Amino acid sequence: MIKVLFVCTGNICRSPLAEGVFRHLVEAEDLGEYFTIASAGTDSYHVGEKPDPRTIKIARKNGVSVEGIRARRMMEDDYYTYDYIFAMDGGHLFEIQQHMPAGAHARAEMFLGSASDLSETEVPDPWYGDEKDFEKVFALIDKGSRALLNRLRSERNL
Ligand code: 4NP
Repeated sequence: MIKVLFVCTGNICRSPLAEGVFRHLVEAEDLGEYFTIASAGTDSYHVGEKPDPRTIKIARKNGVSVEGIRARRMMEDDYYTYDYIFAMDGGHLFEIQQHMPAGAHARAEMFLGSASDLSETEVPDPWYGDEKDFEKVFALIDKGSRALLNRLRSERNL
C-alpha cells in the first residue's frame, strides 16, 4: 500500500482537488487497491466543511469528484500513517517539516516536485482569486498528479 497525503492551508481548495484528481487517475488505471489517498490542511479555519464551491465546480467540469471530502487539520498521526506528505507550497512544506516527530517515517516533499518539466514549483493559493485562478490551479494539479503517479508507478514497479 502506498499512502499519500496532500496538504494545503485550509483543505478546501488545493489539497482536496489534488486528492480527487490523483484518485481519479489511480482509479482510471485500475490501481485503487495499491493506494490510500487523503488530504488535510495546516490550519483549522474550515474544519468540517465541504470543499469550496469553486473547487467543486472546477473538479466537476473536469470529470473529477471531490464530493465526500471534509476539511480537517493535519495531526501527529499523519506522520506515522502516510508514506508521503505532499505540500502545495513552500510554507506548507516548512510547517510539515517543523512538526515532523523524530521517529516518523513519512517523506515530506513539494507536490510539484515530480513534475520536472514544469517551471512552477508551487500551487498558488486561489482563495482570494476568481475562476481563472481555479483553472490555473486545476491545470497545475492535473500535471503534478500525472507526474507523481508515473513516478510512484516506476519506483514501486506498479
Ligand atoms: P487552500 O485555500 O489552502 O487551497 O484550501 C485556502 C482556503 C482558505 C484560506 C486560505 C487558503 N483561508 O485563509 O481561510
